[in-house]
Amino acid sequence: MWNIARVMRVLSGKSILLIVAGGIAAYKSLELVRRLKDRGALVRCVLTEAGARFVTPLSLAALSGEKVHQDLFSLTDEVEMGHIRLAREADLVVVAPATADLMARMQAGMANDLASAILLATRAPILLAPSMNTAMWEHAATQANLKSLRQRGCKTVGPQDGDLACGEVGAGRLAELSDILAAIDDGFSAGPLKGLRALVTSGPTHEPIDPVRFIANRSSGKQGHAIAAALAGAGAKVTLVSGPVSIPDPAGMCVVHVETAEQMLAACQKSLPADIAVCAAAVADWKVKTPAGQKLKKAKGAAVPSLELATNPDILATLSGLKKERPRLVVGFAAETQNISAHAKAKLEAKGADWILANDVSEGSGTFGGDSNQVHLITRSGIETWPRMSKSHVAQELAERVARAFKKGKKA
Ligand SMILES: Cc1cc2nc3c(=O)[nH]c(=O)nc-3n(C[C@H](O)[C@H](O)[C@H](O)COP(=O)(O)O)c2cc1C
Repeated sequence: MWNIARVMRVLSGKSILLIVAGGIAAYKSLELVRRLKDRGALVRCVLTEAGARFVTPLSLAALSGEKVHQDLFSLTDEVEMGHIRLAREADLVVVAPATADLMARMQAGMANDLASAILLATRAPILLAPSMNTAMWEHAATQANLKSLRQRGCKTVGPQDGDLACGEVGAGRLAELSDILAAIDDGFSAGPLKGLRALVTSGPTHEPIDPVRFIANRSSGKQGHAIAAALAGAGAKVTLVSGPVSIPDPAGMCVVHVETAEQMLAACQKSLPADIAVCAAAVADWKVKTPAGQKLKKAKGAAVPSLELATNPDILATLSGLKKERPRLVVGFAAETQNISAHAKAKLEAKGADWILANDVSEGSGTFGGDSNQVHLITRSGIETWPRMSKSHVAQELAERVARAFKKGKKA
């Protein structure tokens, strides 16, 4: 694993801009500043107007050893260290606590105070540590804002469940400082796939029959999403193209939601160039040739409608066969119910992929929708059979194999 404690080394000489917003947990930012300083980071603090109701600029200045910035229109600040310079010089911007209001302003692209202006102007990675009352946290507006911020690449840590200052018990408590520090360390860890772009497909596709019915399959997206998260954790810049699933978007990557195989292919093509492509989605082989424009009606005595199917585009074969912009490593999945490795080997050849991960999806295997998977990795140099393990473990193993292959400069 590459994300494990590099604490002292990772933060030495790094510039962290800590934005303290107006939440009840703002007092915890004081300890966060101290811990970041202990790790060798240069910490500059920005305090929102509401944040200053909870902690004083004097405390933050004393602990950080730096001037605390509060006013977008301050004459002296703008001359000495303008908001654009603050935004530009940060290696990482941390918002702790991140209030519901500040996240809403970020989502809307507002720049009406120093904190939001910096968050809009910075090109540095952003880590949000939200904290608020449970109802505020669970509100559809907050969740939608958060989803959109994550899609734009903001990382988040917490909140966690627990006793809240308002007397309620539930989600909304600021993440433990140790978790915030670990997320900050992750933000700086180089990762073996740093500088590489990965495209991952995940989930099923839905092929419409009429406006209300569709052909689908049992894929949950758990394996594909775990692979996207593992590649991002290893430092790759990931685009996840997901069919309709009921699991949350992984943080720290661009997620594109699609429904049909054709939309999935178009989204994949749009996200190229990529160094790595992992096609984990269960793409429908067939679609209804001409979906009905109106809902098909069950009229008394009428004939049962028959569906004429047409072949869907083959995303794995298309990406593998690209002349221009072919990803350097194309990995496919083969969901098999019998003769698993033989069928997967044939698929490797037929599709022109570099690797195939073959899994057993036969009845009783528990693979579709379950949390574990048993796979065979088929490469041009042979077959490896991995023991049954959790889907996130499979994802980590695959990410490590990918990292090794890129280190060697070859595909298998
Ligand atoms: C006592 C008190 C506690 C608050 N705690 C929180 C909180 O924990 N999280 C939050 O999102 N908002 C909280 N708020 C509301 C914010 O302070 C308010 O939305 C403010 O506009 C946030 O401004 P800022 O995002 O610029 O810091 C609290 C307000 C009060 C009066």
